[in-house]
Amino acid sequence: MEKQFKRTTVTSALPYANGPVHIGHLAGVYIPADIYTRYLRLKKHDVLFIGGSDEHGVPITIRAKKEGVTPQDIVDRYHTLIKDSFEEFGISFDTYGRTSSQVHHKLASDFFRKLYEKGEFLEKTTLQYYDEEAKTFLADRYITGECPRCHSEGAYGDQCEKCGSTLSPEELINPKSAISGSKPVQKETTHWYLPLDKHENWLRQWILEDHKEWRPNVYGQCKSWLDMGLQPRAVSRDLDWGIPVPVEGAEGKVLYVWFDAPIGYISNTKELLPDTWEKWWKDPETRLVHFIGKDNIVFHCIVFPAMLKAEGSYILPDNVPSNEFLNLEGDKISTSRNWAVWLHEYLQDFPGKQDVLRYVLTANAPETKDNDFTWKDFQARNNNELVAVYGNFVNRALVLTHKYFGGIVPTCGTLSAYDEETLQEFSAVKTEVERLLEHYKFRDAQKEAMNLARIGNKYLADTEPWKIAKTDLPRVATILNIALQLVANLSIAFEPFLPFSSAKLRKMLNMPTCDWELLGSTTLLKEGDKLNPAELLFEKIEDAAIEAQVQKLLDTKKANEEANYKANPIRENIAFDDFLKLDIRVGTVLDCQKVPKADKLLQFRIEDGLEQRTIVSGIAQHYAPEDLIGKQVCFIANLPPRTLKGITSEGMILSAENADGKLSVIMPEKAVKPGSEVK
Ligand code: MF3
Ligand code: ZN
Repeated sequence: MEKQFKRTTVTSALPYANGPVHIGHLAGVYIPADIYTRYLRLKKHDVLFIGGSDEHGVPITIRAKKEGVTPQDIVDRYHTLIKDSFEEFGISFDTYGRTSSQVHHKLASDFFRKLYEKGEFLEKTTLQYYDEEAKTFLADRYITGECPRCHSEGAYGDQCEKCGSTLSPEELINPKSAISGSKPVQKETTHWYLPLDKHENWLRQWILEDHKEWRPNVYGQCKSWLDMGLQPRAVSRDLDWGIPVPVEGAEGKVLYVWFDAPIGYISNTKELLPDTWEKWWKDPETRLVHFIGKDNIVFHCIVFPAMLKAEGSYILPDNVPSNEFLNLEGDKISTSRNWAVWLHEYLQDFPGKQDVLRYVLTANAPETKDNDFTWKDFQARNNNELVAVYGNFVNRALVLTHKYFGGIVPTCGTLSAYDEETLQEFSAVKTEVERLLEHYKFRDAQKEAMNLARIGNKYLADTEPWKIAKTDLPRVATILNIALQLVANLSIAFEPFLPFSSAKLRKMLNMPTCDWELLGSTTLLKEGDKLNPAELLFEKIEDAAIEAQVQKLLDTKKANEEANYKANPIRENIAFDDFLKLDIRVGTVLDCQKVPKADKLLQFRIEDGLEQRTIVSGIAQHYAPEDLIGKQVCFIANLPPRTLKGITSEGMILSAENADGKLSVIMPEKAVKPGSEVK
């Protein structure tokens, strides 16, 4: 903590209340925020941990429409589900609010009004798509049509999910309203814009010069935004779900969800502390820290600070520790594809094992790059680390104490050099864990705590007290006293990370409080203190439980493939003669290279039996050119030539497309003569 602060306001991104939360949420935002907050509380620092649901935005209205219920029904359902999941995982919010609350509506509305009156907005009129049947402007997601890049149907106004291109609605070919199916018309509409370009100078100084300590992923993203030059951003939308724009003549317009949501942090504070909330948001001696995922960086580092600055009375964040993404078994977590481990389902399958997931997600936290969650790794970390190291050490120390000393903390005699050395290692850990936590390095900090358990485990394995119980009981007493002190230390060191296990452990140790400042002490337990019966801290996870989870994911994959197949049904029959018109041949790839300035295209030189021909194919994102040279491919040989990026392409190379859009080139199973027909 370079600068001294009086108190800290910790926020964690408000999840959209349109679906349950999964391990990606937990790993990316809530566990690190919780570790940090728990640590600050242990340090007796004044801290407030704010969470809540983000209940506005288009996806919620889409979901409501699909289910034939109101948006309020949707957010009520998921707000409760999400709140319960967080509670069960010990995410220790001081408050968990929601943006549909009255307090929030009023605060966000006043905030907008103040900026409006200060002249901080631009007002602009533009053309937007409008559905004349449904009598409503259409959000980008409500418009579908043919993708201008890959020409597949069903692209959205903001993105084509087939080829991944970012689009704007005007680019769609044959646009259609997703509400009525009618063809939308362009109609004028007026909105308010936050002129980010006007804020660029101070943002550059504040981030690029004054906050070089921010994580490289955060700093880098901000820098690239700033270097591209900031543009005014609309802060209102034509929509009937949200906070009405508090301006004369703005009927049918609401605040853009990314305008009101971050204000939710403030209103949730205000709802909790109606009289003292301001000191958490306006006192320069308060440190503000936002925990978020990487898709939220621009909003928390650029847009929200610009809003706060424009308002004038608020502090700005001191740090924005953002994680990268967590993948699941090699694939991007996706709510719509049900590719996730949902927290409420995890708890049904692994009751009482909150800390195991907390441990694994921190050990694998995507702090510097995207990371992968696999069930195998989950099992291995549980069995080889929590059970075999931490749990085993604790269990041995306690069971031996019960066996030889009736559960009474035995007397510590003279220390050997090895005893001293072991205790020494323990005393150093406090400073190190603190340094790491204060620099938002949660993964390394937890590793340090685990190292302590390793030291303890090794200590018992090396000293083997069970072998000398008959001959030298006083020495056994000393060893177990030391081991028990180490166990007591572990309950403190793991408290921010594994709060459930620490509490359980303290109960066994009969240790009523957890005083962080005593971490490293060798007299946490007093000689003669009585311990409670030992219980297992962690238990082994068997293969069957893991296989069941893997099977569940395989089933999901299969269901997705079937759904995809249904969305892509076999087309109607054609005449046999039509098939015969297609001339498909095998050719050998003589050369293959990237087409300059086209990230999707590869240019092939193909030996086709008679001569050579050039074919351009859109598979550059799936193959390295050098991997295809010498291979045989199938191509349609009798298509009219087409010019792509100035190159004449004489044919089309055939490939198969996976559900996730990955392409795989079709090749003959054994080498054939170039020019062979495919029939
Ligand atoms: N709901 C957003 C998301 O899930 C996060 C909102 S964070 C806040 O990506 F700043 F707006 F609150
Ligand atoms: Zn596309």
